[in-house]
Amino acid sequence: MRADVARRAVGLRLAGIGRTFHNERAQSFALRDVSLDVARHECLVILGPSGSGKTTLLRIVAGLERPEAGTVSFDGRDVTAEPPERRGAGVVFAEDALFPHMSAFENIAYGIPRGDRERVRAAAASMHVEHLLERRANTLSGGERQRVALARALALEPVILLLDEPLARLDAPLRLALRLELMSVLRGGSYTTVLVTHDQSEAMALGDRIAVMREGRIEQLGSPRDVYDRPANLFVASFVGAPAMALLAAASFGSLAPPGAETIGLRADAVLLSASGESAGRVRAVEDLGAEAYAYVETPNGTLVSRLTGPAPGLGENVRLHIDAAKMHSFDAEGRRLAHAERA
Ligand SMILES: Nc1ncnc2c1ncn2[C@@H]1O[C@H](COP(=O)(O)OP(=O)(O)OP(=O)(O)O)[C@@H](O)[C@H]1O
Ligand SMILES: [Mg+2]
Repeated sequence: MRADVARRAVGLRLAGIGRTFHNERAQSFALRDVSLDVARHECLVILGPSGSGKTTLLRIVAGLERPEAGTVSFDGRDVTAEPPERRGAGVVFAEDALFPHMSAFENIAYGIPRGDRERVRAAAASMHVEHLLERRANTLSGGERQRVALARALALEPVILLLDEPLARLDAPLRLALRLELMSVLRGGSYTTVLVTHDQSEAMALGDRIAVMREGRIEQLGSPRDVYDRPANLFVASFVGAPAMALLAAASFGSLAPPGAETIGLRADAVLLSASGESAGRVRAVEDLGAEAYAYVETPNGTLVSRLTGPAPGLGENVRLHIDAAKMHSFDAEGRRLAHAERA
């Protein structure tokens, strides 16, 4: 995280944003009182499950959707009533919207002052598409098109850059490669960015801060480390981190559980296979991901996940587990993190 983010001027401010949708079955969805500040040149990532309101929020920032309540300001200017073209946001969605019969060059140049070839070339260079400039957009691969779409947004030199799952449709290697490029562009520090994703590793890698959304509300806003190490509630605890944090009844931890705790959360690195461990369980699955491996162990109190540091146990094997109490997360009856449980 760039440490100076908190001291910078506000680039984007959302204050009390509300939006409701009514569909055929009379259900409604709302963005409920969403307020947040994005510092100038910060990358804020909005992370949340499908349907939590991420795209709706981004469309409201872009001006493509009107909020029923609240205001949007860019660099201190209230833009709530302004149409998208006057706001000056650069927007990229998961599905690129390139003009298929225009060249990559023409696509990138679209919307920027005439003749500024340099600006096009600089944006193309930052996304490594200089060699594709003469190609028609409909002859490019999905990944190439997505790079061109990103270059087009950058070439506009937007006040605010809005990216909605820009890497979602790419295959894994391309996604990682493009993520690194995007990271260096965003860390270059000249864009105020809001990036939407439901991929938490993308959120951790690209965000200066992460806003975790659920059902139209922001559940937690903090640095990637904060959100991972100090999840504010059970939803954030279970949504952020892979494998997911194991959540168990505090009662089964006896005196190990801090007072007031209803639920104990354990990440895989807090649970170690150890012959002298205090609890016992049975290996239900082993997940070897190459760089790391995990064992899912059924115990009388629920399933725990252990990050393996030695040879993998066999399926069905009875093992003993040691729990690192310093890495325990505790939550009260309302599912909120217990502050007194903080142990660096
Ligand atoms: N134009 C609309 N009319 C009716 N309902 C809508 C409309 N746009 C969005 N919604 C509803 O609002 C909710 C939030 O949708 P949104 O697209 O913001 O979610 P999201 O977080 O971007 O999800 P995903 O990760 O799947 O893209 C959903 O329940 C969706 O069905
Ligand atoms: Mg969406």
